[in-house]
Amino acid sequence: MAYRNVYLLPLLALAWSSAVSMTLAFRTGDYASALDKTILFYDLQRSGRLPGWHRLRWRGNSGLQDGRSNGVDLTGGYYDAGDNMKFGLPMAYSMTMLAWSINEFTPELRRTDQLGKALNTLRWGTDYFLKAHTKPNELWVQVGSPWSDHDCWQRPEDMTTPRPAFKIDTNRRGSDVAAETAAALAAASISFRGIDRAYSARLLRSAQQLFNFADQYRGKYSDSLAGVVCPFYCSYSGFNDELVWGAAWLLQATGNRWYYQYLTRNAYSLGGASMVKRSLNWDDKYVGAQVLIAQSVMRGRGGLNGYKDRADQFICSVLPRWISPSSSVGRTKGGLLFFDGNINMQYVASSTFLLVNYAKHLTASRQALYCGGKKVTAGQLYGEARRQADYILGANPRGMSYMIGFGRNPIRVHHRAASLPSVRSHRWNIQCKQGFDWFNTWNANPNQATGAIIGGPDWSDNINDSRGNYAQMEPTTYTNAPMVGVFAAFAAGTRYY
Ligand SMILES: *[C@@H]1O[C@H](CO)[C@@H](O)[C@H](O)[C@H]1NC(C)=O
Repeated sequence: MAYRNVYLLPLLALAWSSAVSMTLAFRTGDYASALDKTILFYDLQRSGRLPGWHRLRWRGNSGLQDGRSNGVDLTGGYYDAGDNMKFGLPMAYSMTMLAWSINEFTPELRRTDQLGKALNTLRWGTDYFLKAHTKPNELWVQVGSPWSDHDCWQRPEDMTTPRPAFKIDTNRRGSDVAAETAAALAAASISFRGIDRAYSARLLRSAQQLFNFADQYRGKYSDSLAGVVCPFYCSYSGFNDELVWGAAWLLQATGNRWYYQYLTRNAYSLGGASMVKRSLNWDDKYVGAQVLIAQSVMRGRGGLNGYKDRADQFICSVLPRWISPSSSVGRTKGGLLFFDGNINMQYVASSTFLLVNYAKHLTASRQALYCGGKKVTAGQLYGEARRQADYILGANPRGMSYMIGFGRNPIRVHHRAASLPSVRSHRWNIQCKQGFDWFNTWNANPNQATGAIIGGPDWSDNINDSRGNYAQMEPTTYTNAPMVGVFAAFAAGTRYY
C-alpha cells in the first residue's frame, strides 16, 4: 500500500496501535470522534444569535442586523467558508446534503448519540430558509457584498462591511437557487417527519411553493444577480440540474405522482437521464439526483431506469481501476480521488457519501453493480469509501489529517474567525484591514477550527500550509455535510457486503 509508511509515524502509531490493518486504519471510536467534529464545524460557521445548544465557546453572535436595511429578518444561517458571506446556493446545497445524511443514517446517528446535534444543525439552516422565503415567488438568496467582505480580514462578530441583501422573484429569476432551496426543505421535511410533524409540514409547503416558482419562472440567478454572485457561486451548470434534483426530493418527500410524471416526462429534456457528470457539488446536482432516483429504482419503482443507468455509470467512474474497468477519475499516489486542485475535498466528500449510500441500497435490494461488464459488490464500494475517508483523517503518505482537530493537521487554516483571536480573549474590535496583521504571519491560528475539512492536498499528496492558500486550506459547509452520513455509518459499525 502506498500509504503504509503512515504507520511509522509515532503519533499515529500511538493512536491506533492495535487496530491497524492494511486497509482499515481507524476504529469505530475514531469515526465517532470524527462524526462529532464534522457536526461541530457548523458551530464555527453559525451566523446570528447563538442558540443555547451551540457548543463552540469561542465564537459569539454576529450578523444581527442582517436583512434589516431591506426590511426583512435575515439573521441566522451559515457562512459558507472562511469568509463572512451568506450565499444562498451553497448554503441550501449544504443543508440538502446534511438532510440526506440524516435521512439515510438516522439509526446510526441515534446509536452514536449524534441525531439531536445533527437535527439542530439542520434546523438552523431550514429556519433561515423559511424566513428568507418571504412570498410564494420571492426568496432572499444572499447577505453581504462579496467584494467588500473579501477586502477585509475580520471576525464575523466585528463585521463593519455593508450587509446588503439580495432576492429573486418573478422579475429577477433564479430557478437554480429556488429549486436547490426546495430540495433542502423537502429533504429536511423527511428528517423532521417523526420528530416535529408541524414543522415538517411547514418545510414541505415551502418546498412545493419554491419548486413551482423555480419551474414556472425559469432563469439563472447568476444572470439576475451576476454582479454579486459571480464569480463566487455563479450557476455555471444552469438550472436544469436543480429542477431535476428538486423534483427528485419532492417525490421522496411526498410520494406524489405529479413529481414522478415530471421526472419521467422531462427525463431527457432536463438531462437527468442523459447527463454524465464527474461529481456532485454546490453547482451541479445531476449525479445527486441520479443516485437518489436510483435508490427508488432499486426498491422497485419503474419508469426511471435512465437515471439509474447514469448513477451506475457515475459510481463506476469513481471506483479505482482494479475494481472498475470504467474508472475515469484520477487518484493521487496515496489513493485520494483527485478532481480539481481547488477545494478537491468537496468532491471527494460527496463521492464518498454516494459510494456508501449506493452500497447501502445495493445491499438492501440484493443487487450488484456492473462496471464495464465486471461485477462489483457493495462491499467493494464500502471499502473504497472507507479508504477515501481514512485518507482525509490521516491514512496518507504525509500522515496528515485534513480534518482540523483530528490527528496531525496543517496549522494555518484559511478562515477569518479561526485565524484571529477570539472575541472572548480579545474584546476590542479588529477593523477591516487590521486583521491582515494576523493573516500575514506564519503563526498557527489562535483558534482551532474543529471539524473543518479543508480543501486538501495537491496531486502529489502535498499541502502548502499557507493561510493565503485558500484552494487547499479553506473549509466549506458543503464539504462537511456529506461526511456526516459517511462517518455516521462507520461510527455505528455498519458494513455493507
Ligand atoms: C504557498 O502558497 C502561497 C499562497 O498562499 C504562495 O505565496 C507560496 O508561493 C506557496 N508556496 C509554495 C511552495 O508553493
